[in-house]
Amino acid sequence: MAAEIVVEPTPEAAAKRAAATVAEIIRSRIDESGECFVALCGGTTPAELYRRLAGPGLAETVPWEQVHVFFGDERDVPQDHVENNYRLVTKTLLDHVPVPLSQVHPMPADCRDLAAAAEQYENLVRRLVPADDDTPVFDLILLGLGREGHTASLFPDTPALAETRRLVVAQFVPVIGRNRMTFTFPLINAVRNAVFFVTGPDKARAVDAVLSADPQQRAHYPAARVQPTAGKLIFVLDVLARGGV
Ligand code: 6PG
Repeated sequence: MAAEIVVEPTPEAAAKRAAATVAEIIRSRIDESGECFVALCGGTTPAELYRRLAGPGLAETVPWEQVHVFFGDERDVPQDHVENNYRLVTKTLLDHVPVPLSQVHPMPADCRDLAAAAEQYENLVRRLVPADDDTPVFDLILLGLGREGHTASLFPDTPALAETRRLVVAQFVPVIGRNRMTFTFPLINAVRNAVFFVTGPDKARAVDAVLSADPQQRAHYPAARVQPTAGKLIFVLDVLARGGV
């Protein structure tokens, strides 16, 4: 399926557009099925998106009580650590909207046995997220993009890229020297709506490669392998991330 690409003139306008896109996907899924299963990302880019989603004019339009929140990846730090993705989402979004705590599922990426924790998180996803043909189908997976083309914690030249069976894995990522836990492509590509939110000139090369029609260009950028089997692929960008000035 071709990607839907939205380019806004500024990072602020892009965050506003991305927040509105996320809210609309959540609303429409709850209208259709009575609930919505989302997986959110971390990093620095989405903070403004989350703040707008929790802000006036948008927060009150979302039936948060019917939303189930998971995480597409997590760093190997405690939940109260400044680099923790769950902490970021909590401070910018979950502390401000009424998602029941029982419906928020942080990824435990700082425990001793990471492989076992990844398997447990996969079992949790399998148990709670409605499946199609044995694979859980998220309604929305929000994704960022690293300069070298990673998304979630699917970094170039790491074993998780080749995973075809497991839905959640843990791996050491040499380029950052840290362990990460992450969704794999089989889980991501089962999604109804994959939404990339990317801003800033430092991402322009990766965006260009990921969106290239040339498979050679795309080959070294893991984010290019986000190709929902039956779902939508949406990019919300600012003009700088799309190579503009
Ligand atoms: C993470 C994210 C990751 C992020 C990219 C971009 O845990 O870091 O889930 O995939 O989206 O690294 O990060 P920035 O938004 O900070 O550039």
